[in-house]
Amino acid sequence: MSRLLLGGQNGTTGHQFAAALGDPMWPSRPVVDGPHAEVLARGSERTDQQILSSSYGRMAMTCIRHTGRYFSATDEAGVVEQAREFLARAAGEQTEVPTGDHHSPPGLPVLVVPIADSDCFQVLDGHHRIALAAAAGMTTMPVRVRRGRVTTPLQDLLRRMSWLKGGQELYQPIDAPELEALWPTVRCCADRLEAMETFLRHQLPELSGTYLDVASCYGWFVHQMGNLGFEAEGIEQDSLGATVGRLVYGQDPDRIRIGDAAWILRGTQERWDVVSCFSLLHHFVLGRGSCEPAELVRLLDRATGRVLFLDTGQEHEKWFRTSLRGWNPEHIRNFLLENSTFDAVLDLGPDRDAVGPYAENYGRHLFACVRDDGAGAG
Ligand SMILES: C[S@@+](CC[C@H](N)C(=O)[O-])C[C@H]1O[C@@H](n2cnc3c(N)ncnc32)[C@H](O)[C@@H]1O
Repeated sequence: MSRLLLGGQNGTTGHQFAAALGDPMWPSRPVVDGPHAEVLARGSERTDQQILSSSYGRMAMTCIRHTGRYFSATDEAGVVEQAREFLARAAGEQTEVPTGDHHSPPGLPVLVVPIADSDCFQVLDGHHRIALAAAAGMTTMPVRVRRGRVTTPLQDLLRRMSWLKGGQELYQPIDAPELEALWPTVRCCADRLEAMETFLRHQLPELSGTYLDVASCYGWFVHQMGNLGFEAEGIEQDSLGATVGRLVYGQDPDRIRIGDAAWILRGTQERWDVVSCFSLLHHFVLGRGSCEPAELVRLLDRATGRVLFLDTGQEHEKWFRTSLRGWNPEHIRNFLLENSTFDAVLDLGPDRDAVGPYAENYGRHLFACVRDDGAGAG
């Protein structure tokens, strides 16, 4: 049942209802964590107003606003009545099983449709029955599976992001049930975060100050460094990165500057205590950037108050064996020293991403570029 995700209500599709609610993540949520389950979990002690302001009340009133009704309810009083009948059924009371108005005939299994590229299903009919079964302690139930496939708004958004060119992969971790089975996370990221945190705990009196992640993708590092205590921001050329970050991490999109990293860094005099730039430099080395790689490093140097963390593609990776010849950790370290004012560049070792289909790629070393006085180059 954890694979059954919320679908449209009252005949609307999952996409339509998500748009009506203004919540693109609606179809990414298991029914057992949704409003139907929540209303049961809260019990019947609640006032009418509490029911109406619950996620169930909001869902039902949105449905009425957009389709004219929620089952037989057409107004707030009807929604409260509907919720109380549902609670009574959960409590085992013999209520008359409603029919018509989008109620299924008794005994009919829940109706679902497969969600593309996942092991999940979107519920077309039967949200209440699933929540009741879950409240009764069931973890599986028989369902009817309709033909065809649907996608979720989150899947659509990820496919529209320019970097993976429609691919079915995640570059940074995203927690969503329909991505779990068939959307591998290319970079585990936690290893790099752990290395940064350990390093910064030795380097700084406390984990606070400002942080900038250049090429922030969905903003996973921005979000995590924010959680550690930094005022965290990002730069990302794909504006959808900020949208994904808002939806999946609750990240404030205003914290992401949208555009080319070199262009944005050139245009600002700002400086951040800690800066990171992961897996961007080699694109400039390969001639796909808007400036020379040395200039990108100079811009990162100017923007960094205390520590710059950087990783980049290396020659040992299968896909870069000829194109990045010579770019080994020793060369990268020297390149960073030669093109910046940092006093030392420390090699913190390789990432843990050279696994599975990428066993011959990644394993990129993380470098920490520091200043003796910790204050910056002025
Ligand atoms: C290989 S991914 C790296 C993501 C992230 N830094 C990480 O390592 O987890 C490259 C990211 O950089 C962004 N990007 C590429 N070129 C850029 C540029 N010139 N300025 C800003 N972002 C850029 C892409 O849109 C993509 O999100």
